Amino acid sequence: MIPPTFIDELLARTDIVEIIESRVALKKTGQNFSGLCPFHQEKSPSFSVSQEKQFYYCFGCQASGSALKFLMEFDRMDFLSAVESLASRLGLAVPNDASSEDREAVEQRKLIFDTLTDAKDFYKQQLRSSPQRARAVDYLKQRGLTGEVANRFEIGFAPPGWQNLLALKPDSSSYLSRLLDAGLVVTQDAEAKRYDRFRDRVMFPIRDLRGRTIAFGGRVIGDGKPKYLNSPETAVFHKGRELYGLFEARRSQKKLSRLLVVEGYMDVVALAQNQIEFAVATLGTATSDEHIQRMFRQVSEIIFCFDGDAAGRRAAWKAMLTVLPHLSDGRSARFMFLPDGDDPDSLVRRVGQAAFLAQLAASHSVSDWLFEKLAQDLKENGLDPTGIAGKAALSKDAMPLINLMPEGVFRQLMIDALSQNTGLSTQRLQDVTVKYDSSFESAGQDARPRYDEVPAEVQDTQAPEMLINASLDPALSLLILQPELALEFQVEAFECLTRGDQDQLLRTIASDVHAGSLSSPGEILAKFSGKPEQGFLKKAFEYKPLLSTEHLKDEFIGLMKSKFKRYNQQDGRAQIDALLQKPPSQLSEDERGLIRQYFSKASAGDDPSLIP
Ligand code: GTP
Ligand code: MN
Repeated sequence: MIPPTFIDELLARTDIVEIIESRVALKKTGQNFSGLCPFHQEKSPSFSVSQEKQFYYCFGCQASGSALKFLMEFDRMDFLSAVESLASRLGLAVPNDASSEDREAVEQRKLIFDTLTDAKDFYKQQLRSSPQRARAVDYLKQRGLTGEVANRFEIGFAPPGWQNLLALKPDSSSYLSRLLDAGLVVTQDAEAKRYDRFRDRVMFPIRDLRGRTIAFGGRVIGDGKPKYLNSPETAVFHKGRELYGLFEARRSQKKLSRLLVVEGYMDVVALAQNQIEFAVATLGTATSDEHIQRMFRQVSEIIFCFDGDAAGRRAAWKAMLTVLPHLSDGRSARFMFLPDGDDPDSLVRRVGQAAFLAQLAASHSVSDWLFEKLAQDLKENGLDPTGIAGKAALSKDAMPLINLMPEGVFRQLMIDALSQNTGLSTQRLQDVTVKYDSSFESAGQDARPRYDEVPAEVQDTQAPEMLINASLDPALSLLILQPELALEFQVEAFECLTRGDQDQLLRTIASDVHAGSLSSPGEILAKFSGKPEQGFLKKAFEYKPLLSTEHLKDEFIGLMKSKFKRYNQQDGRAQIDALLQKPPSQLSEDERGLIRQYFSKASAGDDPSLIP
């Protein structure tokens, strides 16, 4: 390892602002710098860099760290390369007592990358020049691929024969061991026999986010077994983590906003052939926690695509359980079911791009599908989900799932939706004691009910009395996350918000936004930094709405309208109460009118509490 003192010195002599500024546009805001977060999609800046603390933090996605961490994440460097990069900027040499093992591992990985790149180039070139190329070319053509797309994915051809790669450098023993390390050559019979792993197959290079070839998938040409052969796990390839097509998707679109998760290599390529360039495939495994984290680093929406049959629905449910804990920070997921017998490749080729995209747009949202699936399960168990027993079962089934979600507006909306479905108050639902049931397999490491966590959180905080009562007003949290929402109402409208600290904060933010002195979450944070309101802000940033911007707006307008109505109604009541305390002789004619009006309204059902 590199001596910690060297890392300290490196960080002490590096200015994080300079490092980040050369990659992300930053603006000085108060003490700090802010800009659009490079780690998630956003419209208003919530990425903040503190020069004083030499630290970056995103209020949207919680990405944070030092200059080193930034380089590792942004430039996708490993630790050693990031250290080297900072050191070379400063003209420092990385001390060489870094354990020789580490250096060897890095060196070794580099050799594997080089070997895989050479193999990829060889397979590509074989697709152009091998005497046997016709079968491969015809096969790709027959599957509807043009040379352009084949090129974009660097598709190649491993010709028939056992020693093609080996024969490239027959006398080099180091080459042989590199081929073995790269998983390109297989050993049999106690090393007596060595031969190429991929023979007579169409080759799909799997690339990492930097575009380096890390493995291959090879498809048999026509029928044959196994249909696909993948590289084994190597020092540079971990199957459960990688997504075929992610590099290509990122490269094809400047602003990638969503990813479509499909099953097969050919699905990804066929979709790209039809100008749908945001598909990725897991490599024969179910979508893992790590896959999802990876995708949400790139985009805010993931659409899962499944077969329409029972197996597809099972897989979709598994994906639901895996994705729920990640649904924060403006993220969303959708579930698309294919017509029976189709896969994305066959569907897009049959119906074309536009119709495919239309089906994609009509896919199920998380809440749709969650409730639909649970209701269906109940029906299969002979329960009517609209009856009393069914509703009770629905709430018992749904709450643990909803509790997998990070705290936030979206989770609250799911609870609201459940409340509508069952007729139970959200409070009653919240009170349903939930115990995470291990039968909800593999819902990810974060999967656990969240209620027990609340007390610990409350203890930590500096302004406990604020947080104890704060289930944070969702309208306030939306406003903090997206201050321009204040402009949806006249500034005067907010004046009725006079109860308690949260109202006060909501009113202050709204009026500052109207006055033009606040426009981003970062600025709000700066304004209240060190003040007691910070507790609310912190909570708000934990609220990670899943809805799209448009929906957030609707949600905010809805919440505020009902709040205004409630308050004005009750204010009306307070005014009447005051009038009622006056001696009747002192009432003016107008005031009498108000009282009459109020009671006639109240008796019409507006405020039942008024009727004795
Ligand atoms: P095509 O027949 O070429 O359209 O294949 P596909 O992409 O539709 O594949 P399919 O739906 O049969 O399988 C989906 C994915 O599962 C493939 O892309 C592979 O990653 C994986 N897979 C399929 N068959 C095999 C196999 O025989 N061995 C291995 N290791 N993986 C397979
Ligand atoms: Mn297929």
